[in-house]
Amino acid sequence: MRIFVTGAAGFIGSHLVEALLTGGHDVVGLDDLSTGRLANLAAVTGHPRFRLAEGSILDAALVDELTAGAGQVYHLAAAVGSFVIRDRTLDALRTNVHGTEHVVDAAARHGAVLVAASTSEIYGKNTKIGLREDDDRVIGSPLKSRWSYAEAKAIDESLIDAYGREHGLRAVIIRFFNTVGPRQTGRYGMVIPRFVRQALAGEPLTIFGTGDQIRCFCHVQDVVPAVVRLAATPAAYGKAVNLGSTEQTTIGNLAQRVISISGSAGGVTYGSYLDAYGPGYEDLQRRVPDCTLARTLTGFTPSRTLEDIIHDVIRDQATSHAGAVTAL
Ligand SMILES: NC(=O)c1ccc[n+]([C@@H]2O[C@H](COP(=O)([O-])OP(=O)(O)OC[C@H]3O[C@@H](n4cnc5c(N)ncnc54)[C@H](O)[C@@H]3O)[C@@H](O)[C@H]2O)c1
Repeated sequence: MRIFVTGAAGFIGSHLVEALLTGGHDVVGLDDLSTGRLANLAAVTGHPRFRLAEGSILDAALVDELTAGAGQVYHLAAAVGSFVIRDRTLDALRTNVHGTEHVVDAAARHGAVLVAASTSEIYGKNTKIGLREDDDRVIGSPLKSRWSYAEAKAIDESLIDAYGREHGLRAVIIRFFNTVGPRQTGRYGMVIPRFVRQALAGEPLTIFGTGDQIRCFCHVQDVVPAVVRLAATPAAYGKAVNLGSTEQTTIGNLAQRVISISGSAGGVTYGSYLDAYGPGYEDLQRRVPDCTLARTLTGFTPSRTLEDIIHDVIRDQATSHAGAVTAL
């Protein structure tokens, strides 16, 4: 099958491209390299069944051209990361709303199955243990830039749902919870690569807030096969599906585990959200998914532990991105 992947040079996108090529497909990627890197695609550069177009999902004609003839479209391109959303709010909104509309519209017109990346941010401040896809959203003021990412992704979900009902678009929405692993960068506010970068540099790990916040981290190599299976599961079309780990950890505990696995002598230091993100930032006390739907549809059961993830991120930063580590 010919497959179109937006955000192909990104963290999840590059792992997905490798999986699709291994599956025997022809893959064309699109990326504007804003947070993605060509280095992420090093393993597939020159592959006879892969091509990357450098450009933006805001270019409707380019999106249309790349969608033509594709059986599936995986839409991962987005403005991502707390610092990106804080510093370039308007650009991020445009990308995440208008860019997505171009991709959704093209998939519908060309009859491709669409797999669209959404986010656990959709649930906002809902602290329920085991968030289900039909749970309520608890979102802060739209005038706080932090929530603009969740607002945009929610509009995307509504748009996809409406295209499904009014234009017959076959689409599955994936709500990724914290997905981590090799190639993710800490530059834009992601906690595990940032902690690992600090540990490898012998610096104290900076915990924002109390460190009591609870998160669940899932290895990208557990997530990607489930994404591919969902694309081929008609029962998933028209649905939003959570993908993530249910192994809970506090950010303080995460820091201690990074320190003990890396052997860092730097310890931890605490910073305020005000210092890190500026005025008006709201953090979340807890974010834990219920992945029953993904398990029912695809048998999704993550097998890699937080220890595995930390080991893999350390190995990745210590080897392939050694040059980039000091630059972060
Ligand atoms: N990693 C996570 O934990 C997580 C959690 C929730 C949702 N997601 C979603 O998964 C998707 C992939 O995220 P990721 O973690 O791989 O981040 P990423 O930043 O590595 O990937 C996003 C990619 O999109 C590209 N991009 C941005 N704007 C673009 C544009 N206008 N045109 C073309 N390409 C553009 C970037 O260069 C990058 O390669 C995103 O849609 C994100 O919202 C990720």
